[in-house]
Amino acid sequence: MNIFHLSMECFPVAKVGGLADVVGALPKYQNKFEGIRASVVMPWYNKPFVHNHDFEPVFNGFIHQGPNMLSVHVMKERSSVLGFDLYLVHIPGLLDRDNPYGYRDESYQFLAFQHAVLHWLTAMKIRPDVLHCHDYHTGLVPFMLQHCPEFSPLQGVKTIGTIHNGEYQGQMRWEMLDFFPWIDGTADLRILDWDGWINPLATMIKCCHAFNAVSGGYLEELFQSFKGLESLVRQEHAKAYGIINGIDTEVWDPATDDYLDVNYSTENAREGKWMNKVEICREYGLNPELPLVGFIGRFAGEKGADLLPDIIWQSIQQTYGALNIIVLGSGEKHTEHRLAELAAHYSNFALDLGYKEYLSHQIYASADFLLMPSRVEPCGLNQMYAMRYGTIPVVRYTGGLRDTVQDISSGGAGLNFGQASAEDAVHALKRAAHIYHDQELMNHLIQVNMNFNFSWHQSAENYLNLYRN
Ligand code: ADP
Ligand code: GLC
Repeated sequence: MNIFHLSMECFPVAKVGGLADVVGALPKYQNKFEGIRASVVMPWYNKPFVHNHDFEPVFNGFIHQGPNMLSVHVMKERSSVLGFDLYLVHIPGLLDRDNPYGYRDESYQFLAFQHAVLHWLTAMKIRPDVLHCHDYHTGLVPFMLQHCPEFSPLQGVKTIGTIHNGEYQGQMRWEMLDFFPWIDGTADLRILDWDGWINPLATMIKCCHAFNAVSGGYLEELFQSFKGLESLVRQEHAKAYGIINGIDTEVWDPATDDYLDVNYSTENAREGKWMNKVEICREYGLNPELPLVGFIGRFAGEKGADLLPDIIWQSIQQTYGALNIIVLGSGEKHTEHRLAELAAHYSNFALDLGYKEYLSHQIYASADFLLMPSRVEPCGLNQMYAMRYGTIPVVRYTGGLRDTVQDISSGGAGLNFGQASAEDAVHALKRAAHIYHDQELMNHLIQVNMNFNFSWHQSAENYLNLYRN
């Protein structure tokens, strides 16, 4: 079975968040199954990975986007070092950017990528068994396959859509239709419509053969709350699935992780974590004797990052300074400013504003607890990385977090709280601070968390079964 994953991100080529981790791991694990050939197709960005690896050109051509003619070059990474074939679509002047997102003409970018991929496959007579589209950026592919005559040789190719984040749907104005590949005159254009906009995520759900959310818990929530697409997902429920993400246990392994000061496994977890903690506390001026709570992530409403300032000062006040908090992330400016003010005031709180892959690994390893006050969490990978590194997750009970973290009180090895509010989070952190002083319980929780099996193997197989169905 020949599978092409279409995505805007893929670790380690270009990463903004969990989408990259998933697309960098799932195909690798799928390729471990006999008879499976999974590849990744993504844009060529101006990124170190691209410059440091060897590529061979596999296609040169051009597409028309409205009045513009765009040249398209597809390049294949020569060594398959990632465990799958990696194809980069180079469109000079449009896709060759520093980052996947954040540009005013994003819609043109995503449209051109989808158009170029289908143009390349058609021209080279490559007919995959499955086109696996990740998020709305590639959500128009199933529509294009069905309704753009240029790609008719690809008709019947199966399409799967994965919803990593239903908060973003890629709505665009109807004028953008002029920049689509040529659409068959008999096509019903209402397929593209949701609430008066072209909605790529809604179109994906309508046109793909099957779609999935990245956890069963999140899928359930989408039926109730999906930024206006609730009725659509209910209507299309027969082809809706929930498949939880895994983690790449080869990349995320405290026993071999090069970013850590000290490597450790279940055998010496307590000492290993302690040595990493001492180092990070020294660097950030924190007292290692106190429980260390970490937060890593984008400062966005979904992540509850705006709650952090209140959570931090209230938990420090209410425990009389008996815990430390370290935050790594960036995003909404208001949150950044408030956190910077707090960091200047409280010696129990350390802040690193930015995106630092190495520091994220160090925090997973050295923290005692990882806080996730998410309002929406389709799956969440942070809690799984934390658990693999023996760090106890303290999470709001939502989406993928409720599928992966069980509270100690119901036999699990994490802490749950109900509302995305500072009060609930602070209450959970006070429980954490209390648990920290029970050595025996801590040892037990560290062991249980580290022994959890979050490997991709099972989920990769679930995707293969979905394709086969
Ligand atoms: P999302 O994709 O919604 O941001 P996930 O939990 O799925 O959330 O994945 C987030 C990924 O991004 C994890 O690999 C996490 O370690 C990483 N990450 C988030 N923020 C940062 C940061 N500031 N520095 C380094 N890594 C980060
Ligand atoms: C999205 C979600 C996150 C999920 C990730 C990978 O970014 O916000 O919860 O883990 O995709 O599927």
